[in-house]
Amino acid sequence: MTNGLDDVVAAETVLSDVDGLGGRLTIRGHALPELAGRWKYAQVVRLLLDGFFEDLPGDTDLVQKIGQARGDVFVRLQPTLASLASLDIYSAMRAGIALLPDGDNLTDALRLITAPAVLTPALLRIKRGSPAIAPDPHADHAGDMLRMLNGCVPSPALAKALDTYLVTVCDHGLNASTFATRVVASTQAGLTSAVLAGLGALKGPLHGGAPGPVIEMLDAIEAHGDAAGWLRAEIAHGERIMGFGHRIYRVRDPRADVLKAVVRQLGGEGETGRRLAFAEKVEQAALDVLRVAKPLRSIQTNVEFYTALLLEAAGFPKEAFSNVFAAGRVAGWIAHAREQQTTGRLIRPQSRYVGPMPDLVA
Ligand code: COA
Repeated sequence: MTNGLDDVVAAETVLSDVDGLGGRLTIRGHALPELAGRWKYAQVVRLLLDGFFEDLPGDTDLVQKIGQARGDVFVRLQPTLASLASLDIYSAMRAGIALLPDGDNLTDALRLITAPAVLTPALLRIKRGSPAIAPDPHADHAGDMLRMLNGCVPSPALAKALDTYLVTVCDHGLNASTFATRVVASTQAGLTSAVLAGLGALKGPLHGGAPGPVIEMLDAIEAHGDAAGWLRAEIAHGERIMGFGHRIYRVRDPRADVLKAVVRQLGGEGETGRRLAFAEKVEQAALDVLRVAKPLRSIQTNVEFYTALLLEAAGFPKEAFSNVFAAGRVAGWIAHAREQQTTGRLIRPQSRYVGPMPDLVA
């Protein structure tokens, strides 16, 4: 047994496979590059949910239902938005989601799948003193998320960039948040309970909380001026370099390249292009420093490094990056929760007691 359950197989799944040595992610039979930038998020939602809801409609009707679900979430939660906005943006989103019905039918699922995309822009706007903007049920999902944030229809390139991001992070094997989701679903609790477990796990900086600190790192290195020196000092103080390392990948995370290509397309001569060029230098310095500092471990760039640049370019503040991660991953959580509810068993592992025993009195 290891403390982190390394190499333990805790579920059988048809949903996704992470090949850590080959650097490949497969989602329901499709390699990630087949999906990212080619399939819309709504199509990937359908791919993930296929077989887990009897009334799952075809692509066109599902797009319509996803639009309706955004509207439904907004109408249900609008009265609570002002009070939720006093919390930090992640807790506010999570508290809003906790108010949704805890059922397990398709309507419940689509409400949960759209909730982070509706709540995050609405709460960000209220925090800035602006009114929340209602969803447009006929708009494209990612584009509508940006419209609700900025109050104007985004450029097709930006909407596509965010859509590609949501697809890229939609599912990823039995990561910590997906495992937490499956544990709760295995008790036959509802989908909201399962998603709340996933949200709790995703928040931590070793999982979905990393991209915000990536921005802080890039800013600190820019101010410091010497990337390698700054990174070496961090490691000497026992800190981890955010956006690097992975439990499963021993080679480069394939999602990092997908997202880097998206940032490059957005980049050009402007601030995004300048930021990307700087980040690439920091990435190379970090890989060099980590190779020397941790020679026994292959520590490579992970998804969060270029997530940070993409979400910054899309106009999200760094404190909301984990919310946007949740807006993509929630589809995977729902599919895993349904798979666990319908084909799995109560998850109940053992622990080994290493504490004192009571005195045995003769
Ligand atoms: N920076 C510095 N050292 C790192 C590191 C990083 N990003 N990632 C791993 N290491 C080191 C550990 O300090 C440890 O060194 P040691 O053996 O000298 O103590 C060694 O690599 C193994 O670490 P371990 O904690 O067993 O690896 P893990 O499989 O649990 O790590 C992560 C996976 C993701 C938790 C880890 O790589 C990390 O903390 N990364 C930074 C946060 C991040 O980007 N998270 C997003 C993941 S997608």
